[in-house]
Amino acid sequence: EKGGYDHFMLKEIFEQPTTIADSLRGRLVLNEQKIILSGVDAIQDKLANARRIIIVACGTSWHAGLVAEYVIEELCRVNVEVEYASEFRYRNPVISSDDVIIAISQSGETADTLVALERAKEQGATIFGIVNVVGSSIARISHAGCYTHAGPEIGVASTKAYTAQLAVLMLFALKLAKAKGTISDERFNELCQELNDIPEKVQWVLENEVDNIKAIAYKYKDARDVLYLGRGYNFPTALEGALKLKEISYIHAEGYPAAEMKHGPIALVDEELPVVFIASKDAYHEKIVSNIQEIKARKGMVISVMTQGDEVTPTISNDVMVVPEADEVIAPLLTVVPLQLLSYYIGVYRGLDVDKPRNLAKSVTVE
Ligand code: M6R
Repeated sequence: EKGGYDHFMLKEIFEQPTTIADSLRGRLVLNEQKIILSGVDAIQDKLANARRIIIVACGTSWHAGLVAEYVIEELCRVNVEVEYASEFRYRNPVISSDDVIIAISQSGETADTLVALERAKEQGATIFGIVNVVGSSIARISHAGCYTHAGPEIGVASTKAYTAQLAVLMLFALKLAKAKGTISDERFNELCQELNDIPEKVQWVLENEVDNIKAIAYKYKDARDVLYLGRGYNFPTALEGALKLKEISYIHAEGYPAAEMKHGPIALVDEELPVVFIASKDAYHEKIVSNIQEIKARKGMVISVMTQGDEVTPTISNDVMVVPEADEVIAPLLTVVPLQLLSYYIGVYRGLDVDKPRNLAKSVTVE
């Protein structure tokens, strides 16, 4: 049932070219330059007139929501807020019938997310669910939605569900932007093409980078703490990389926006601290390069996720993990993959049960 892989987590990481393609299939219609999402059509007026979009989720699904905040604000010019479901449900948030809530959940059974949605629904908000498990509680409570087609995810650490969520959120953002007229035809077509190309780029990482990442994992497996830094679209990738490492290897890890480092965490940096930078080519690349230099100046060890062909990043990093070039908006679907593999191999080298980390449940149905 593990399809020849040692663990479900590894199988699920390797399934991503397929599960991303499955989540796009029949929805991204390249030759007609359109996106078909009947759930979006069902609440089209609500979405077009939404005062804001509030994304509610937990854990890795919350990280997908953070990526979506950057993408939807950029492409659709609407205010987006991302909330931890557990906080949202217990405070007294101001919600109205002009708000659209996007709920993101792999299992569709996360108690905190479900209760937050019940509250928001009572107050008149429209709920759009992005869920993996068909017929689950969150799918049923939503007014409309769109399933991710990741297939069953068995490993406790979410991998393929995350990239499927990102794929659907990208479709959502592109479709809404087109409907609102906030994206040019040219940019729409360009991003659709980029999205379409993502499965084969993920496949490239899986075919070309695994041995390198294994060696890096072995080198850093005894680290006590690891810092993950990214900016812009890849700030959430830093958070997700750190969460994966914590869950799978029990190494303390933190994700931060790279520029926040100088406001505190830089005090942690010494020759013992590995710092993972998500340094793929984007509008912030020069800024990331100077953040890497700040870490090197303090003798930190730098591991960078970088774009193929980048000649600068290897000269200032101790180790690099390479991804193919991708548009910055779409890149989070790709840059997370080396980080999933890094966590997996560190967990394996530490002799841990990567599919069932201690204290964790696949679906958190209690608060
Ligand atoms: O099923 P959900 O997407 O609602 O689950 C949310 C979190 O519990 C989940 O993402 C958790 O953080 C994972 N263990 C992350 O790998």
